Amino acid sequence: MKTLISQAELEAGITSMSADINKQLGSTPLTVICVLTGSIILVADLIRRLEMPLRLGALSASSYQGNTVRDILTLDTHLLPNVKGQHVLIVDDIFDTGHTLNEVSKHIQTLHPATVYTAVLLRKNGRREIELDVDFVAFEIPDEFVVGYGLDYQDLYRNLPYVAILEEHEIKQVADPSA
Ligand code: IMP
Ligand code: MG
Repeated sequence: MKTLISQAELEAGITSMSADINKQLGSTPLTVICVLTGSIILVADLIRRLEMPLRLGALSASSYQGNTVRDILTLDTHLLPNVKGQHVLIVDDIFDTGHTLNEVSKHIQTLHPATVYTAVLLRKNGRREIELDVDFVAFEIPDEFVVGYGLDYQDLYRNLPYVAILEEHEIKQVADPSA
């Protein structure tokens, strides 16, 4: 495993992103929506740096392998607060192809919020399939599979306090422990 973003760099990047959010939104009350599970650590660190009156809600987005080319995405929205008329900030861990954030965003829009902003810790270069302009991005990263700081591989590694690139042989090790 190779560290891509150290603890100190994460802290600086999140401080800088929260300063941008504070500057752009000022004292407007905000409802932050944590996209579970990957953004849980980012949200905890981010909201403690936000200065406006703030409510916190969550929804869960998970994808499973269907019989089609792309994974099937399911949203579990029962933890969502009422966002009607509210200014909403959706926070996710990573923008890869963009399908997840796009689907979450479309769902939130159906609930008639006043405004919807989006923020991600990471944006992976070169994999984008959706034309969605993310409002706040902490780090641009190369097209590598990364784990840590909330991001998982088969539900492992979320607890790493840094972001690391998972190397080919490590991916195989977890996928097939008998190999
Ligand atoms: P999307 O392709 O933008 O829809 O990203 C879908 C989801 O895939 C993200 O929310 C992550 O949970 C996961 N994902 C994408 N790239 C990575 C990665 O490099 N490491 C861990 N999870 C990832
Ligand atoms: Mg994931």
